[in-house]
Amino acid sequence: MPLSSPIETIDARTTRDTGPGGSATSAWCRRYGPWAVITGASDGIGRAFAQDLARRGVHLVLVARRGALLATLADELRKAHGIECRVLVADLAHAGGVGSVIDSTADLDVGLLVASAGFGTSGPLISSNPDVEREMLDVNCAAVLTLATHFGTRLAGRGRGGLVFLSSLLAFHGVPGAAHYAATKAYVQTLAEGLRVELAPSGVDVIASAPGPIRTGFADRARLRMSLALSPDVVARVTLAALGRRTTVRPGWLSKLLGWSLALLPRWGQVMVITPIMQGMTAHQATGEQRAGPAPR
Ligand SMILES: NC(=O)c1ccc[n+]([C@@H]2O[C@H](COP(=O)([O-])OP(=O)(O)OC[C@H]3O[C@@H](n4cnc5c(N)ncnc54)[C@H](OP(=O)(O)O)[C@@H]3O)[C@@H](O)[C@H]2O)c1
Repeated sequence: MPLSSPIETIDARTTRDTGPGGSATSAWCRRYGPWAVITGASDGIGRAFAQDLARRGVHLVLVARRGALLATLADELRKAHGIECRVLVADLAHAGGVGSVIDSTADLDVGLLVASAGFGTSGPLISSNPDVEREMLDVNCAAVLTLATHFGTRLAGRGRGGLVFLSSLLAFHGVPGAAHYAATKAYVQTLAEGLRVELAPSGVDVIASAPGPIRTGFADRARLRMSLALSPDVVARVTLAALGRRTTVRPGWLSKLLGWSLALLPRWGQVMVITPIMQGMTAHQATGEQRAGPAPR
């Protein structure tokens, strides 16, 4: 696939500046472009980030396992927005897959990482499939750590850029019924909060996005019943608007409301409030459905 040199991509930005609102867009692109790497871009929230960033004129590296979905999205975005897109099929549960993201982006002037790839499980941990739980730890945490370290180093070296992490409403306390998933998101949230301060002097912005229920493939895969779910577009829009201004953003009114009201309680109290909510989201599993695990892909 043909790729631009950094000089060619800067020229593309200049052309875009002539349009309405172009100067704001180009200032944003100078800080977080010309290329963004998005993991989990084949679906849901990652896909919504890809669409939002393409509208801003950022060139994209789309990462996930389902290559056909990535290729279709890349074609759409190239045609609609005149950007360049590189598709990278990689399984982030394995070090080799994470390494291929690093190797395949070495020649690009990357200004932004959106680490959206992830999945959830639910039900009692003691009846879980240990292999699936381990896979979730690898995708949700280990891959995020490696990519954050690598791109954090690169961005600090160039003196500007951003790291976007997908935390969760469930990242701030223990969650019976999704104990391990919540723990993986607590890891991401805490990593982002520390990195934000570490990288600020280097000109690198870090944000944790902590949505509540979002209408994506996530719930089916985690076998959760979620009501009041929002569109993934909201997550991308609100998070990108807050990048460089906030440490944590809570897209959607439900996430804000629950976040603020739970924050007034001690952590044990937060666990007590979330317990019946999770029981409601997993009650259907008692009727014979198997415990959560990855849907076949
Ligand atoms: N949806 C929600 O309610 C919600 C709420 C709070 C936080 N989040 C977080 O938001 C992030 C995105 O979730 P989503 O709602 O967009 O879910 P989704 O629609 O299921 O999308 C998950 C994405 O992650 C990718 N992925 C999963 N396992 C992977 C692996 N081993 N290697 C590479 N890519 C992998 C999937 O691509 P392939 O299957 O093609 O590999 C897909 O693109 C997750 O980190 C999740 O924890 C979601």
